[in-house]
Amino acid sequence: MKTIPTSWPYISKNEILSARKVLNEGWLGLGSYVEKFEKKLSHYLNLKNRFICCVSTGTDALLMSLFVAKIKRGDEVILPSLNFLACAQSILLCGAKPVFCDVDEKTLCIDVEKLKKLINKKTKAVIAVDYSGNIADYKKLNILKKKYKFKIIQDAAHSFGSVYDNKQVGNFSDITIFSFDPIKTITTIDGGAIVVKSLKDLEYLKSIRQLGYSVQPNVAFRNKKKLAYDVKNLGFQNRMSNVHAAIGLAQIDKISSIISKKRNLCKNYNYLFKKIDKVITPFSTYEKVTPFIYYIRVKKKYRDRLRSYLRKKNIFTGLHWYPNHKLTLFKKCKKGDLSVTNKVASELITLPLFYKLEKKEQIYIFNHVRNFLKNEK
Ligand SMILES: Cc1ncc(COP(=O)(O)O)c(C=O)c1O
Repeated sequence: MKTIPTSWPYISKNEILSARKVLNEGWLGLGSYVEKFEKKLSHYLNLKNRFICCVSTGTDALLMSLFVAKIKRGDEVILPSLNFLACAQSILLCGAKPVFCDVDEKTLCIDVEKLKKLINKKTKAVIAVDYSGNIADYKKLNILKKKYKFKIIQDAAHSFGSVYDNKQVGNFSDITIFSFDPIKTITTIDGGAIVVKSLKDLEYLKSIRQLGYSVQPNVAFRNKKKLAYDVKNLGFQNRMSNVHAAIGLAQIDKISSIISKKRNLCKNYNYLFKKIDKVITPFSTYEKVTPFIYYIRVKKKYRDRLRSYLRKKNIFTGLHWYPNHKLTLFKKCKKGDLSVTNKVASELITLPLFYKLEKKEQIYIFNHVRNFLKNEK
């Protein structure tokens, strides 16, 4: 059996043609393709009175979302510790304090009951991360938000193309961010997006994604008559380029096929692994969510040995994630009871999931997991 990677992008002729067209045209930076991609995303996400701004990565989208939420020095932002690094890093970069919260054992998303205990006057935002095919409990989060007046930032890097409470992800949080990195549901190679609720916030985002310019430079520099811009905001250099957007345009054209393929692969994994009582399968049934990864849980005592065994069979696996509160940079940050995070992080294994994964490869993976577990107690 050939090597089975954990993730792999789904790039075909259309992405290459689309990127080549931009390269031939010559306007490579921020420009009309980014606008087209934003329009297409907005249409696909069915955004109602919400506005989308594309940027260079999902990490930049998170940092900029904290700027939109006006997070400043001394503020506290609560987030799950079972997390990618980008959330906690972005909070620190704003001068604010990450406060680590546990996850719910079923969904592996932020535990709202434990979150309540961490809220105080300094709490200005909660970053809820949708883990794999599970969506955080935004109904309960919204009730808390009304009482304590914090902003909800939804890190939907994993849940692009999912539906929650009959609404497309992107339509129910104060701010939503997406990542389009090489292995996400759709990719622009590197890229991200932020959804906000007002045109004022959109204008602010467009300004800070390119050094605080009041008018996008592609517009300003083409106006030869006068210097047509001012700078009022402190800003980043976080724009998306036309080349990346062109790849995104080709990706979004095949989103339905990506979604149905990935949901079916996950349903098939669930069906297979439910037969093994030593494996805990994801909470999600994958009817309405589109995962970026597929995970299983096994006992801590043999989790790492199982990964090595699979590696010898040419099956690559991943870990999502090592808890943030255990990393040197974040060790001194405030935290609540993280018992579930500590437990599940040593049980999780991310199995291969990507568009071109075949059912026979899933059976090969399943058989090897089963063979390994047969000899374990
Ligand atoms: C939950 C989550 N948030 C944010 C990001 C950051 O996205 P990017 O890699 O585009 O910076 C990732 C990337 O994997 C992620 O998994």
